[in-house]
Formats: sequence, C-alpha cells, structure tokens
Amino acid sequence: MSAGPQTSFTKRHLWNWTSFAGGVIAFAGFFAFLLLSAIDFIAHASSPYVGILAYVVAPSFLIFGLALMALGAWMQHRHSRQSGGTAWEIDFSRLKDRRKLALFAVVSTIFLICTAMGSYQTYHMSESVEFCGETCHTPMHPEFTAYQNSPHARVACVECHVGSGAKAYVAAKWNGVHQMVCVFTGKYHRPIETPIKNLRPAQETCEQCHWPGKFDGNLDRTYNHFLTDKTNTQFSVRLLLHVGGADPALGPVGGIHWHVSQNNKIEYIATDDKRQVIPWVRVTNSRGEVTEYRDPSFKGDISKYEIRRMDCIDCHNRPAHNYRAPNDSVDLAMSLGQIDRTMPWVKSNAVEVLTRPYQTTDEAVQKIATTLRSEYPTNTSADGLVASVQTIYTNNFFPEMKVDWQSYPVNIGHKNWPGCFRCHDGSHKTADKKKTIPASDCNTCHTIIAQGNGDDLQKLNGKGNVFFHIDSEYTDFSCNTCHTGGIQK
Ligand code: HEC
Ligand code: HEC
Ligand code: HEC
Ligand code: HEC
Ligand code: HEC
Ligand code: HEC
Repeated sequence: MSAGPQTSFTKRHLWNWTSFAGGVIAFAGFFAFLLLSAIDFIAHASSPYVGILAYVVAPSFLIFGLALMALGAWMQHRHSRQSGGTAWEIDFSRLKDRRKLALFAVVSTIFLICTAMGSYQTYHMSESVEFCGETCHTPMHPEFTAYQNSPHARVACVECHVGSGAKAYVAAKWNGVHQMVCVFTGKYHRPIETPIKNLRPAQETCEQCHWPGKFDGNLDRTYNHFLTDKTNTQFSVRLLLHVGGADPALGPVGGIHWHVSQNNKIEYIATDDKRQVIPWVRVTNSRGEVTEYRDPSFKGDISKYEIRRMDCIDCHNRPAHNYRAPNDSVDLAMSLGQIDRTMPWVKSNAVEVLTRPYQTTDEAVQKIATTLRSEYPTNTSADGLVASVQTIYTNNFFPEMKVDWQSYPVNIGHKNWPGCFRCHDGSHKTADKKKTIPASDCNTCHTIIAQGNGDDLQKLNGKGNVFFHIDSEYTDFSCNTCHTGGIQK
C-alpha cells in the first residue's frame, strides 16, 4: 500500500504502533475518568481525594495518550517524507504486522481490564480510614491516633468529614487537592486549625447515624478523680446528666438536647476564632417568638460577626479526636488500676512528668522513664507506672505537630474549658433583664447524686447534692480558671 493522497488522514498519520498505543492509553484514561466520576457522584459520602484520581490522574493519562498519538503521527509523517516509503505504516497485508496486531490486541485488552480494576481499587483505597489517617503520616498522626481511641473508631473519616449532598461537592474535591499540595510542600499548620470552616453541617453527618430526636433521658456518669496528695485520695462525682430529648414524638422535649430540637432555632455570634467567647444568643421557638440574650459587657456591633446556628458540633466538638488532659488521663489510668494507687504521690508525679515540655516523642518517652524511675527506685510497681504514663503520652501528645490537650478547646462540659458556661454563666440576659440563660442552679443540667470517696459514693441523693468541692460547698462558675487539665492551680 502506498501513502498516496487517496488514503485517509487516519491511515496516513495514525496507522503506526506508537499512535495505536497512545490511543489505547487515551481510551483507558477516558474510561477511568468516566468510571471514577460516576462512582464518586453516586457514593453517599466520598473522600475528597477521589477528585484527584478522577479529575487529575485519569485526565493526565488521557492527555499522555493523545500526546503519544500525535508523536506517532509526526514520526510517521517524517518517516514517509524522508524514505518516501511506507516502512513505518502498519500494513495488514503483511503477516508480520497481522501477528503484531493480534499481540497488541491481547496486551491492550489486559491493560484496559487492569485500568478498570485499578481505578476501582484505588477509589476504594482513597475512601479508607487507613488512607485518610496514614498516607500523610505526620500531619494526620494525632487525629488518627485519637480517633482509634474514640467511640467512633469504627466510623470512617469520610462519614463525618465529607457527608452527603452535591452542594459542597466541588469544594470538597478542591479541598482534597489543596491538602495534598500542602502535605507535599510541608506548608500546613501545626497544629491543624479548627474550627474546620468547611465541615459539613451536622444534619449531613452526625444525624445520619444519631437520630437527633431520639430521647436519651438521663445518663448516669461517674467521674473518678484522685487528689494530688501523698495518699492520692479519691474524689469522685456521680452525675445524672439531663440529656433529655429533641422530638416530641419520642418523648418530652427538654434537657440538654433541647438545643437541637427541630422546633427551636438557637443562633449565636462568637467574637474569637475558636468560638470560645459568645456574647450574644438568639432563640426562636416553634411559635416564632424570638428571645435575644446578651452579655451586657459586650458593646460591639452584632452585624459585624457571622451568625451561626447551633448544632451538635457546638457541644460535641471532639467526638473523634479528644486529646485527654494529663489530669484526666492519669485519673482514668488510676481508676482502671493501670497505675498502682498505693504508690505515694503517684497522681502528682505522673501529671507533673506529663506536663513538662518535650521536643519529640522519643525524648518524652525516655525522660518519662528516667524521671519516674528515679522517684520510685525500689518500688515494684514502677515498671507498670512507666509503661502506663508512656502510653498516655503517645496516645495524647504529639510534639511534632504541636498537639496536646491545650491545642483544642473541649466544649462538652465546663471543668477545663468554658464549654456550656460560654452561654450558661449567669451574665447572658434579655434587654429587660427579666430572663437569663439558666445558670444559677448546678442541678439544671445534671443532678449530683453522690460525691466523695468510699462510702460517700454509696449514699445516693436523688434530689441532688450541693457540690462539695474537696472540703467545702461550692457554686463558683469559673472552674476553668483553676482547672486547666494539668496541675490544679
Ligand atoms: C465522629 C465524626 C468524626 C470522625 C469519624 C472523624 N472525625 Fe475528624 N473531626 C471531627 C470533628 C467534629 C472535628 C472538629 C471540628 C471542629 O472543631 O471544627 C474533627 C477534626 C479533624 C481534624 C482537624 C484537627 C483536629 O484535631 O481538630 C483533622 C485533621 C481530622 N479531623 C481528621 C480525621 C481523620 C484522618 C479521620 C479518620 C481517621 C477522622 N478525622 C475521623 C469529626 C470526626
Ligand atoms: C457512621 C455513623 C456515625 C456517625 C456519622 C457519627 N456517629 Fe457518633 N457514634 C456512632 C457509633 C457506632 C457510636 C458508638 C455507639 C455505642 O458505643 O453505643 C457513636 C457514639 C457517639 C457518642 C457517644 C460517645 C460515648 O461517650 O459513649 C456521641 C456523643 C456521638 N457518637 C456523637 C456524634 C457526633 C457529634 C457526630 C458528628 C460529628 C457523630 N457522632 C457521627 C456512629 C456514628
Ligand atoms: C447543648 C450541647 C449539646 C448539643 C447541641 C448536642 N449534644 Fe449530644 N450530648 C450533650 C451532653 C452534655 C451529653 C451527655 C454525655 C456527655 O456529657 O458526654 C450528650 C450526649 C449525647 C449522646 C450520647 C448518648 C448516650 O446514650 O451515650 C449522643 C449520641 C449525642 N449526644 C449526640 C448528639 C447529636 C447527634 C447532636 C446533634 C443533633 C447533639 N448530641 C447535640 C450535649 C449536647
Ligand atoms: C450558644 C449558647 C449556649 C451554649 C454553648 C449552651 N447552651 Fe444551653 N441553653 C442556651 C439557651 C439560649 C437556652 C434557653 C434559654 C431559654 O429558656 O430561653 C439553653 C437552655 C438549656 C437547658 C434548659 C433546657 C430546657 O429544658 O428548657 C439546659 C439543660 C442546657 N441549656 C444545657 C446546656 C449544656 C449541658 C451545655 C453544654 C454542653 C449548654 N447548654 C450549652 C444556650 C446555650
Ligand atoms: C449548663 C449546664 C451545666 C451547669 C449549669 C452545670 N454543669 Fe456541671 N457539667 C455539665 C456537663 C454537660 C458535664 C459533663 C461533662 C463531660 O461529660 O465531660 C458536667 C460535669 C460536671 C462535673 C464533673 C466534671 C469532671 O470532669 O469531674 C462536676 C463536678 C460538675 N459538673 C459540677 C457542677 C457545679 C458545681 C455546677 C454549679 C456551679 C455545675 N456543674 C453546673 C453541665 C453543667
Ligand atoms: C479557686 C480554684 C478552683 C476553682 C475555681 C475550682 N476548683 Fe476544683 N479544685 C481546685 C483544687 C486546688 C483542687 C485540688 C486538686 C488536687 O488536690 O489534685 C480541686 C479539685 C477538684 C476536683 C477533684 C480533683 C480532680 O483532679 O479533678 C474536682 C472534680 C473539681 N475540683 C471540680 C471543680 C469544678 C466542677 C469546679 C467549678 C464548678 C471547680 N472545681 C472550681 C481548685 C479549684
């Protein structure tokens, strides 16, 4: 056959092995793109990183394939000009070329099948907890570790971080690309900043599993603590938390989950980035009546701030990544018997060694061992103590990312952080001063049914005790001025 003017453009330019191979690669890229974007659209909540595969990796193959086709065309063109012959062109009248084509067809088919399987596998991989938590080891290490020790250890990262709904779809994908770039260039914040501005609304994440209206009634919780005295005196508090409910179809609406009842809308402004200072709150009830509460010391202009509607995350802001404070983690280890309570001053020593500054995890692990061993040179429980305190450290402290319990406020209670008292501090009043966000009574949110140690914890009082703070009755609202999670001031 000759490359005369009567032969088609395709034949004159693309009838060569290089362009053929390019065509197969381009087709595979296009096919992978269709496949990935289709599953990405259909999936309930898909990882932001799938976008990189669908919209960056697959199209790159397409472009590479097209470029290879063009290269083949150019080479064929040049060759036929130089030699005037057709050596480069494939000629099916030649047995050699027919054999080559058969081989080519087989290899191409295998390649296309592998592409389909590979795309699907990579898609799955990018959805996995391991991918989100471990691929970029250093930046996500704190979140991944805390997550594994959380009640949500079996819930995939994407369930909370991506959610469903097409609205923020493109934003999520773009965010994934952005994060990858940050990881490669090392330009990420240490610690990673919160609140996460583009976290999906709680309705699309938490509420997919936790029915917001479900009536929880009262939760019975015991908080075990030990004082920093020589004998590590136990001081525990047992509370009935009035969680209540948020849907009248399932029980009375009231208590703590009243805030998320569909009938009410609670909005607020925060004057700081971490949402810790809340000077203005607006409640709209089912009848459309509006009540505004304001801290009178706030003189600013509300319209200057973003008004946020309260949802689950305004209280449960650390459901999966709670870095425990030294005081609380040592108390937990002692109450579980992991640390021997009979060792003199053990509470105090363990908290103290955890609150010292360390540059790296390795340094901390070594110094914890040497410090504690020197405190208890002959005590047979020293090995257990060292191991427990080291575990507390590696589970909750990440000096490489500058993450520990002080990095992120915890909004669920009020002991180490302002939490509920951001609004329930007695100073948020209506303009006529007739109504205040409930605060004065410690039994509004929980009933203290027992406190102290030993026998005291058996004496249950359903009416609720006045809080007996170590050695005196106590109703001060500024717990976190003294309690910071480290050594009590
Ligand atoms: C139960 C829901 C949930 C799951 C599951 C979850 N997270 Fe989070 N994550 C959150 C919430 C809520 C925040 C805090 C948001 C805020 O304060 O704005 C957060 C914050 C983060 C942050 C910001 C830094 C920080 O510590 O606050 C990173 C990074 C993160 N998560 C990564 C992950 C990874 C990786 C996984 C899976 C291994 C995961 N998350 C699983 C709910 C979740
Ligand atoms: C994919 C499902 C799923 C999603 C999404 C989810 N959770 Fe959970 N959550 C669970 C499971 C499972 C448990 C453990 C239940 C148990 O232990 O009984 C749990 C437990 C909890 C608990 C109880 C923890 C404890 O101490 O016992 C809280 C509080 C909670 N989730 C809040 C949230 C919040 C807030 C979000 C949104 C940021 C969220 N969950 C998102 C499935 C989910
Ligand atoms: C006003 C703060 C606040 C808001 C808003 C809030 N919660 Fe809670 N929730 C609490 C407190 C306090 C508890 C008691 C448990 C505790 O202290 O850890 C609790 C308990 C829970 C529990 C555990 C119940 C159990 O049986 O262990 C779940 C699950 C839960 N909340 C989910 C949600 C979800 C989902 C939302 C959003 C629809 C939400 N919460 C909104 C404060 C809040
Ligand atoms: C953003 C401000 C804000 C935060 C934060 C907040 N609350 Fe409230 N809370 C309110 C307002 C406003 C009311 C209703 C006042 C009224 O009756 O109009 C309320 C009412 C309540 C009630 C009474 C509900 C009823 O049955 O009438 C309880 C209990 C409660 N909150 C518990 C909590 C707990 C526990 C936390 C922390 C986990 C918390 N709140 C955090 C604003 C807040
Ligand atoms: C606005 C609701 C609210 C009010 C008012 C309130 N508390 Fe609490 N308190 C909570 C919640 C929610 C928790 C549970 C925190 C958690 O699960 O980590 C809690 C936990 C506690 C604990 C156990 C903390 C621990 O870690 O040992 C004590 C003690 C306590 N409260 C005492 C008081 C006292 C004393 C008052 C009155 C000055 C008071 N509370 C008023 C909501 C409230
Ligand atoms: C003026 C400072 C101060 C204030 C305010 C304060 N505490 Fe304490 N608290 C202490 C000291 C000091 C101890 C004893 C610490 C020790 O021996 O380990 C203590 C011990 C405790 C303990 C037992 C030990 C432990 O490790 O947790 C609890 C629980 C407690 N306080 C809760 C509260 C609550 C809840 C509030 C707010 C209603 C509050 N405290 C306000 C200073 C304070």
